[in-house]
Amino acid sequence: MNSVTDLKDRIKSRVTKDLAEIEDALVRNLNPHDDLVRDIAGHVLFAGGKRLRPLLMVLSARLCGYDGDDDKNISVLFEYLHAATLIHDDLVDEAVLRRGKDAAHLRYGNARAVLTGDFLLARSLSLAARTGIPKVIGIIAGITEDMSQGEIRQLTNKGRLDLTEAEYMDVIERKTAVLIRGACRTGALMAGADEEKDRALTDYGYHLGMAFQMADDLLDYTADTLSLGKTIGADLKEGKLTLPIIYALANASEAEKMYIEGMMGKEGVTAQEFRQFTETLERLGGLAYTRNMALAAVARAKNALSMFETGETRDLLSMLADYAMVRQS
Ligand code: IPE
Ligand code: IPE
Ligand code: MG
Ligand code: MG
Repeated sequence: MNSVTDLKDRIKSRVTKDLAEIEDALVRNLNPHDDLVRDIAGHVLFAGGKRLRPLLMVLSARLCGYDGDDDKNISVLFEYLHAATLIHDDLVDEAVLRRGKDAAHLRYGNARAVLTGDFLLARSLSLAARTGIPKVIGIIAGITEDMSQGEIRQLTNKGRLDLTEAEYMDVIERKTAVLIRGACRTGALMAGADEEKDRALTDYGYHLGMAFQMADDLLDYTADTLSLGKTIGADLKEGKLTLPIIYALANASEAEKMYIEGMMGKEGVTAQEFRQFTETLERLGGLAYTRNMALAAVARAKNALSMFETGETRDLLSMLADYAMVRQS
């Protein structure tokens, strides 16, 4: 626990100014023309997200020698896009908690939540256009395609007990890794990085994104609701097969398979039943396997940084990769 807090504090103390500037840029660039949109977008946006994606863009640009003054303004497009997908995701997932607050669709209703998500998406596209870099505009457009397809595929996969690890990886690549990868790559492109650096940061972002979602899928079983700001056990309740279950199922006896199957999507699971389920995943190796896969992705992400000169910014990106694994929120 202490080392976790340590790493988070060590990162935070070194990016205090960047985070404050990102926060200002988030307010400045929102431009809602309607009070209700401001309220709903604000409800999600200003509820204490980690700002990981804008920070990654800013640090990636810095690592490639960016010396302009538009990085913070552009970086918030990744938070708007992220917030848009969170609002839509919570509606689709029937989630009740986000960033420690009630999910937007519960507080404001589905129609308003969907439309505010659309607005945030549109804001992010406008900011992408403002870069004037055709590649960046293409990346952002591609991210929105991938993310919606990832979510659609996940929805159609729901409850499918024969879901393979490859299918799971495909979903998390689209719904999570592509956005994180795009943030890093955009930073490189804004700095006018050469192809080699562009590729290195693209790899870093991809592996970090994969690790981040695998860690998230672990946290759904191992964290506590208060620190996570999301409801623990939500994936099980939704019938969402993630890597811990996919691996456990592959190693389960017939009886254990039936037990897992019976728990998927079950209503009214008690705390004790949930603990027992998590213990089953642990016993069948699902949690350890997922942790190891995520750790391997973190190692690949850090490895991709090795072509850059050592220094403060490279260190920070490396620490952020480690943080993906130890985060509790
Ligand atoms: C949540 O992302 C959605 C996933 C991809 C797992 P974060 O964990 O970055 O959420 P915030 O932005 O800090 O709330
Ligand atoms: C990631 O999937 C969310 C998005 C990419 C929008 P999850 O459904 O697992 O994310 P959480 O757990 O709701 O944050
Ligand atoms: Mg969700
Ligand atoms: Mg989740």
